[in-house]
Amino acid sequence: MLERTGENKLIKAGIVGASGYVGGELLRLLINHENIEIKYATSKSHKNEKVSRLHPDLYGLTDLRFSDKTPMEVASDVDVIFLALPHGTSIKYVPDLVETGVNIIDMSADFRLKNPEKYPEWYGFEHNYPDLLNKFVYGMPELHRNEIKNAKYIATPGCIASSSIYSIAPFLSLSLDSNIINVDAKVGSSGSGSGLDESKVFSERFNSIRAYKPVHHRHTPEIEQELKYVSNKDIKIALSAHSVNMVRGILTTSSIYAVSDEIKLWSLLREFYGNERSVRLIMDKKSNYRYPDPKTVIGSNFVDIGFAMDNYIKRIVSFGAIDNMIKGASGNAIQSMNLMYKFNEYESLIMPSLFPV
Ligand SMILES: NC(=O)c1ccc[n+]([C@@H]2O[C@H](COP(=O)([O-])OP(=O)(O)OC[C@H]3O[C@@H](n4cnc5c(N)ncnc54)[C@H](OP(=O)(O)O)[C@@H]3O)[C@@H](O)[C@H]2O)c1
Repeated sequence: MLERTGENKLIKAGIVGASGYVGGELLRLLINHENIEIKYATSKSHKNEKVSRLHPDLYGLTDLRFSDKTPMEVASDVDVIFLALPHGTSIKYVPDLVETGVNIIDMSADFRLKNPEKYPEWYGFEHNYPDLLNKFVYGMPELHRNEIKNAKYIATPGCIASSSIYSIAPFLSLSLDSNIINVDAKVGSSGSGSGLDESKVFSERFNSIRAYKPVHHRHTPEIEQELKYVSNKDIKIALSAHSVNMVRGILTTSSIYAVSDEIKLWSLLREFYGNERSVRLIMDKKSNYRYPDPKTVIGSNFVDIGFAMDNYIKRIVSFGAIDNMIKGASGNAIQSMNLMYKFNEYESLIMPSLFPV
């Protein structure tokens, strides 16, 4: 086994919902984390099975088996608990979990929005814990690093939201001609999780580009919330999401209506991101990949950002590309955890993408 033993590990972690795609990715990244011992990986439907049966990338790397412990039982024996559960599910456990003193990293949307009134409209349930919403920090290290360092509870950003926020935020200091920003998102199939439904059958999904959420996508309010945080502007996001013929990866293409020029836009990007190690600015005009492309980030914790200036329409077309399960989920969760525990921020997260995929 390559897995490090518990002897020198400082922190015990539990992953609830570890049979899912994001749970599997957390396992993959944490298994060799310098400071983390994975104490529990829970699954109701795969109790006692080896995690590598469901996540074959872990075959030969760990003897860990799924446990059917409840989140409360897990919390009683770990320092940090990851909730990789569907939205509307974490909220059932979190109020009790906070009483235990455990640190919580939630992968769902249940604690991302500061305004509880947004939940009925966008998620279809009443949020009855406004105080808890204020205790959760939005787990995007590049925007909230100092808050995350002092946080006990993290709400990890959504995948489309991440790609959109990273690629739009730097340009908002410009004077905008419209407060509406159009976002076209192209999403690989893993973005909708491992649950089965007819639309995911191979013959339905393969070779299809499906506008699965052309309007009213749930990530809209969190994108608007974070862009307001960055710019103090009331931006409206017109988001249309398409599922495309990939397993992993997201590309967001956004139209930001403003007059500018390339030199200014590059300087805004450099100013905004400085030396952020997980952010890459794509600017090689001779490359086959002159604009961000999910193909070049798959398997990594990078977000690639680039743009084109449209002088005809007077808009910036900005691009963000991420691996939805890493920088769009588990990568930001682990980066946040590393900050919370004052570990090396990038422990277990610095790896090149797979290329070609
Ligand atoms: N997929 C992505 O790219 C992505 C990106 C960012 C954020 N997220 C968010 O991360 C969370 C997990 O996503 P995912 O893609 O990993 O979903 P998934 O593949 O469907 O996995 C969710 C897991 O949660 C467990 N579960 C389901 N209902 C439960 C319940 N009522 N109580 C306890 N456990 C339950 C299931 O495991 P058992 O039945 O085996 O117990 C299931 O394997 C979601 O909130 C999602 O929105 C996903």
